[in-house]
Amino acid sequence: MTDYQQLDQQAKQIIQQNDRGTYTIPTAGLYPYQWNWDSALTAFGIAQYDLKRAWQEFETLFSGQWENGMVPHILFHQQDDGYFPGPDVWDTKQKLASSGITQPPIAATFIRKLYEKDQAFGTEYVKKLFPKICRWHEWFMAHRLEKYGIAVTHPWESGRDNAVEWDQPLTRVDISQVGTYQRRDTSHVDADMRPTKLDYDRYLSLVYFGRDNQWDESVIRAQGAFRVCDPTMSFTLIRANKDLTWLAEQIGEKTERLQQITDELSDAASGLWQEDLKSYTARDAKDGAFANAISNASFLNWFAGIDNPVALESLQKIMAETPYAVPSHPASAETYDANRYWRGPIWVIMNTMIAMGLAEQGHADLAETIRQKSEDLIIKGGFAEYFNPENGAPAGGGNFSWTAACWLGWVSPTARQEG
Ligand code: DGY
Repeated sequence: MTDYQQLDQQAKQIIQQNDRGTYTIPTAGLYPYQWNWDSALTAFGIAQYDLKRAWQEFETLFSGQWENGMVPHILFHQQDDGYFPGPDVWDTKQKLASSGITQPPIAATFIRKLYEKDQAFGTEYVKKLFPKICRWHEWFMAHRLEKYGIAVTHPWESGRDNAVEWDQPLTRVDISQVGTYQRRDTSHVDADMRPTKLDYDRYLSLVYFGRDNQWDESVIRAQGAFRVCDPTMSFTLIRANKDLTWLAEQIGEKTERLQQITDELSDAASGLWQEDLKSYTARDAKDGAFANAISNASFLNWFAGIDNPVALESLQKIMAETPYAVPSHPASAETYDANRYWRGPIWVIMNTMIAMGLAEQGHADLAETIRQKSEDLIIKGGFAEYFNPENGAPAGGGNFSWTAACWLGWVSPTARQEG
């Protein structure tokens, strides 16, 4: 018999061990700072046992917001030599040291979840956070909206670092000046589960380019080698913007501009539909070429409130290929790799968002199948960063905050009893 209470307890302990006072790190060693979308998902888990602390996670995240509205993907609160590239490499010259890129903007969505649990104190927090989130969404509209949705300028922005979608666009990145450097990730995790050396050279080249251009978005737009419209960014921003509209209504703010953003984004993101793959896929912002690769982000359309029966068939077909789901790349694809990060493994955070969207759009049975498979993975393999879709083996970092948080907020029967 599964002891769910014990698992709830373990999940809470993991988050508490990763708690650094006012923010939570994803996992000790591999990711020792505050990551943007990790924090939003982690707050969702913390909210199950400590609402005040959950709100604080967002307050700390937005304390790193740039003048131009961007909310960075990493906030380097305290130097940690176990991580590379650290603050000196990014050299963003911000008051609070940070990276120079962003991450999927899911804050408004999980702030709404907190507010729904906590209207008494939540209103004050929402009033403070609302203008900051608006500025972040406006930053996306000003600097990243392209013909086919929201573009990422670095694979790390998408959160799906080595996804197959980036392979072709990354060939434009010149690595001749990268020089030597010491990776730290492979001292924490098996190299077969991490991006390759070639990937890393390209990641660094893009960081150096941004840094050498003072992280100026207009230069990055005009001259950056990598600019790809991403389903993760596009769908999460649509969703977050709808949730922000809802929050605006709760606190008596105007909604017209927010609705306009949702409409513009939805129009653009419809261009991510790749007819022959029967799925939404990434698309190069420079020449419009489709990535020609399905990922788990392809199925975030329901999370954005967009139902699509053809995409539903694709999802079911891919889920039937492996015992566990949803893989980050279909097992039938030549480029699939069951253990390598975003090229096959299952991510419970993506399952959470995919299933949340499916359930909201009237596909409760499929959502429940995904939840059940996520439960099986965690019972079998613990709160790992990701999981092998064929045998369910845990992979990447262990004791991961957002996996524990998704357990507490969505997978666990305790979460379901609460509705
Ligand atoms: C890393 O260092 O692997 C991160 O994913 C960057 O955000």
